[in-house]
Amino acid sequence: MDKKIIALLIAVLVVVLSVGGYFIINSISSNKEESNKEENTSSSSKIEENNNIQNQNTVKKEDTLDKKVAVVYFSATGTTRNVAEFIKDEMKADIFEIIPKEKYTDEDLTYNNSNSRATKEQNDKNARPEIGNNIDVSNYNVIFLGYPIWWGDTPRIIQTFMESHELKGKTVIPFCTSGSSSITESENTLKKYEGINWISGKRLTNSKDDVLSWVKTLNI
Ligand SMILES: Cc1cc2nc3c(=O)[nH]c(=O)nc-3n(C[C@H](O)[C@H](O)[C@H](O)COP(=O)(O)O)c2cc1C
Repeated sequence: MDKKIIALLIAVLVVVLSVGGYFIINSISSNKEESNKEENTSSSSKIEENNNIQNQNTVKKEDTLDKKVAVVYFSATGTTRNVAEFIKDEMKADIFEIIPKEKYTDEDLTYNNSNSRATKEQNDKNARPEIGNNIDVSNYNVIFLGYPIWWGDTPRIIQTFMESHELKGKTVIPFCTSGSSSITESENTLKKYEGINWISGKRLTNSKDDVLSWVKTLNI
């Protein structure tokens, strides 16, 4: 074969090989880029996902901060205390007992005696029995307020509480226990305290199921 032809063939072969090689290398590297892009996209969407989860947690935490719930109660013989504990457990709330400075003895509580302490206090609309403990509800915006019914109404010590704590702007939900009387008269007494978002309360019995089903209706 002519040397010139051989040289031409070799030159053609070199060109073909280098062009082919270029395309092969190019397609390999573009494939790599593609898969890198995919990896990047999937890792950035993972980051986004994580951020979303963090945001949800933050929102939830803010929600919880929005509603800080306290259960505040007075109980002379323990029934209202039990109910208050049920509410506290269900709402994961903090609980505060109103403890009278001078505790009520059995004699103080005899309601068929017109001279007993409780009867005299209830007959005197200005009586404000002293509270013996510090209750700080300033950080709570939802307050369940519990008490026994005394002569159809709130025990006067509940009025002491209302008048010695800043409750304006808070949501307050009364609840009571009683022999049979309804909560109505005591709610009328409480609603005279203005600037409070009063939610209709309920007379409750010492039954966990009843208490929980009521609490659930409140949507708090
Ligand atoms: C001084 C006094 C007055 C009461 N007056 C009433 C009343 O008017 N109507 C009623 O249904 N129960 C009345 N009761 C019963 C209590 O409301 C009831 O036993 C309540 O569940 C007690 O709650 P506690 O154990 O948390 O103190 C009275 C009890 C006392 C001690």
